[in-house]
Amino acid sequence: MKRVGIIGVGEYLPKRILTNADLEKMVDTSDEWITTRTGIKERHLAAKDEATSDLATKAAKEALKDARVNPKDLDLIIVATITPDMQFPATATFVQANLGAKKAICFDISAACAGFIYGICVAQQFIARDTCRNALVIGAEVLSSITDWKDRNTCVLFGDGAGACVMAEVKSGGILSTYLGSDGTKTDLLNLPAGGSRLPATPKTLKERMHYLKMQGNEVFKIAVTSMVGAGQEALKRAGLKCGDVNWIIPHQANSRIINAMAKRLGFVNAQVYLNIAKCGNMSSASTATALCEAVKEGKIKKGDIVLIDAFGAGLVWGAVIIKW
Ligand code: COA
Repeated sequence: MKRVGIIGVGEYLPKRILTNADLEKMVDTSDEWITTRTGIKERHLAAKDEATSDLATKAAKEALKDARVNPKDLDLIIVATITPDMQFPATATFVQANLGAKKAICFDISAACAGFIYGICVAQQFIARDTCRNALVIGAEVLSSITDWKDRNTCVLFGDGAGACVMAEVKSGGILSTYLGSDGTKTDLLNLPAGGSRLPATPKTLKERMHYLKMQGNEVFKIAVTSMVGAGQEALKRAGLKCGDVNWIIPHQANSRIINAMAKRLGFVNAQVYLNIAKCGNMSSASTATALCEAVKEGKIKKGDIVLIDAFGAGLVWGAVIIKW
């Protein structure tokens, strides 16, 4: 099988910023509560006329430029998202049209906060088996469109953004191991109840605010820690590495307490954890995608570094990937 790696990264964060002070005026909350319970200080929100594919396209253009790949030469576009432009067609097809990437195969992945990792794993298979020469993997969300701005339990947590990477065969380094997992018995913990075939939109579903994200935060918190620890351990085992070999962890940015607990339980002493949660909140699939991009662009991740990307999300789904940069 071919050795596959990431050859370019990009991100886009919408201009509008919503601070904790702004939220204090919208619901019964405080900057102190949000900061100590989550680590979030502010988040970016898409403009009214910005859809997920618009954010995705901007991140994609930056990643393609970084990778020096012409959109016309792209073979595959995967968008990981839970906030697609429309229920169908795939958001990836809108991105394809925006980029003029006429040759690319396009589809979306629904793996919530682990979506970017799922996308990387799928793209790796396409490239390693010679189905495609390259792939654009994007994690993009406009979570503000499914956030209940009257529910203080959830509205303080989320933000909008997009991160992207271009993948191709590499001569050295690249993906060392991957691990994905799912548990479909806990779909009730985190979901968007209405608008699908189970509960199509009616005046009643609208009135009952069922088109917004619902979450049992406490339960999700506990499972998030154990799932991310398990995913990290399995990916390390598959790569034949120990915690001490890892230079950077790019965790899903749901809650700084989840991230601290996970890093501690995994026993990371040398590795540094990259965080963008304070300025971005939880952007689901876009969290690991943007954090990876920022860590590279800021010169933190250097050639030869071992990077562990580790995430967990609704489904439940989880996954980890280890890459030698
Ligand atoms: N401001 C002020 N108080 C709030 C609040 C807010 N924004 N949101 C909830 N509260 C209150 C609750 O009503 C509760 O009050 P009560 O004790 O009077 O009932 C109290 O704070 C504690 O709530 P609890 O749910 O126990 O807090 P927590 O410490 O578990 O933190 C989350 C809540 C949501 C931050 C935390 O559970 C979490 O991060 N969960 C995982 C989220 C996640 O990872 N989601 C995505 C998965 S990828």
